[in-house]
This record gives sequence, structure tokens and C-alpha cells, in this order.
Amino acid sequence: MSPDAPTFAEVYPGHPEPQVEPLQFRRLGAEETLARAEAFYHEMNARRTTRHFSRDAVPQQVIEWAVRTAGTAPSGAHRQPWRFVAVQDPALKERLRAAVEAEEYKTYTQRMPEEWRAALAPLGTDYVKEHLTDAPWVIVVFREKYGLDADGARTKNYYTVESAAIAVGLLIAALHHAGLVTLTHTPNPMGFLAELLGRPQNEEALMVLSVGYPAANATVPKLGRKPLEQIFQVDLGHPAGPHIDPQASPPRTGG
Ligand SMILES: Cc1cc2nc3c(=O)[nH]c(=O)nc-3n(C[C@H](O)[C@H](O)[C@H](O)COP(=O)(O)O)c2cc1C
Repeated sequence: MSPDAPTFAEVYPGHPEPQVEPLQFRRLGAEETLARAEAFYHEMNARRTTRHFSRDAVPQQVIEWAVRTAGTAPSGAHRQPWRFVAVQDPALKERLRAAVEAEEYKTYTQRMPEEWRAALAPLGTDYVKEHLTDAPWVIVVFREKYGLDADGARTKNYYTVESAAIAVGLLIAALHHAGLVTLTHTPNPMGFLAELLGRPQNEEALMVLSVGYPAANATVPKLGRKPLEQIFQVDLGHPAGPHIDPQASPPRTGG
């Protein structure tokens, strides 16, 4: 540390020193690290968003473990600005679907600009959202725009969209790892979800995830994923350095 670096007390006057504990960490060998990185890629590369769900039940405990995983996400100033509302009651799912479809109907018939329509055409989505009633679980993820202390006063949260979105990524990965499929859905607009699900004014719906098993005849759009060369740069960007192995990220042909 440079001799003129400010002390903790100078940076945080009046605040107690942070409490620390030893990091729990097991360092893996280089080979195992590489093998695990590759194996995880293959596992995640098999994830697909399907819009066709079976009505087969999924135990609540599975959802709970996946939400715990989501709750391990890093967050701005450790505010953990997320709330996962898991809906399984068929009557509530019906109400949710009706409200979503009412908005989506307007979006698809009136509000959607041509550019957006062109982007969605390869996916073939429309305003009908059977997955919201077929899937045994619908998880509505809220971001906490600001906190509320015990007296109901507002406390500031930081990077709430980024933090909650990372948590959703972990949730999707956890559910995929558990052998389930998910559909990430962003009804537009989705302001009505907080009211429908009895959430307070400091929360705003961010994403809706239908979760369950795929229907026996489930299909997915044929999509490819960008290869490493198109999503990765090392330093100032040598086009495709010696460590890029095209076999490691083949463009997929779907299925
Ligand atoms: C933020 C976000 C919003 C999305 N919104 C919708 C949506 O409203 N409806 C839908 O059917 N799929 C939606 N998707 C799913 C994407 O269409 C899907 O992830 C993409 O086509 C790639 O397919 P894959 O997940 O199978 O790789 C969304 C995905 C993300 C990440």
C-alpha cells in the first residue's frame, strides 16, 4: 500500500472495521481445472429454452435448492436485491397467464415494431403462453429497486438489474443441472406482476421463468450459438490466438 493511501477510518469515518473470515477455498490442479471448465461448458451447452412443457409435477424442494443457488449470486454492495416468487397454484397460474396474455396480445397485435417482429420471427413466439399453465412452476423474479428498513424508510440499492440478472443466470443453470427445462419470459410491460403477486412497491418484475419437464413432443427453434472467436477477445484482440480450439464451441444446429 502506498504510504499516503487513506486509512479505513479516513475513507469510512464513523464506520466499524469490516469483519473478515478465512476464505474457504480448495485449489484444484491445472488439469482438473481445465477438465471441469470444459465439462461445465458441455453441460450448459445442452441447455435449451423450450416453450412446450409437460404438466408433470416437480417437488418444491428442487425449486428451493435452485433458488438458494440463485441467492449465492454476487450483488452490488451485497444488497441481494432479488425476490423469487414461485407460483404453483393452478388458479393463480391461470390468472397470471390471463394477465400476461392480455398484455402480450396488445404487444403482438399493436405495439411490436417491425424490427422486433423480424427478430422474433425465427422463434415463432406469439401471445399465447400455454407454458404459464402447463409448467408446474412459474418463477417470477423481482428486483428490489430500493430497500426498506424496519421503519419503512428507503435504503439505496446498487446495480439491481445487473445483480438480479446474474441471480437469474445462476437459477437457470441450477435448474438445468437438476434436469429441468426453463423458459425465460419477459412479458411486456410487466408492471402488473407485482400487484398480482402481492409484492411491495419497491420491487419490480424482471423476468418470468416457466420451469418443469419438457412435453413429450417439445421442439426448439434451430439456433446456433456464436463461436468463441465472436464472443471473446484477449488483450487487444489477436483475432484467433493459438488457444482457441474451434472444436470447443462448435456452432450448434439445434435439436
Ligand atoms: C432476457 C430474456 C428475455 C426473453 N424473453 C422471452 C420471451 O418473452 N418469450 C420467449 O418465448 N422467449 C424469451 N426468451 C428466450 C430466448 O428467446 C432464448 O433464450 C433464445 O432464443 C436462445 O435460445 P436458447 O435459450 O434455447 O439458447 C428470453 C430470453 C432472455 C435472456
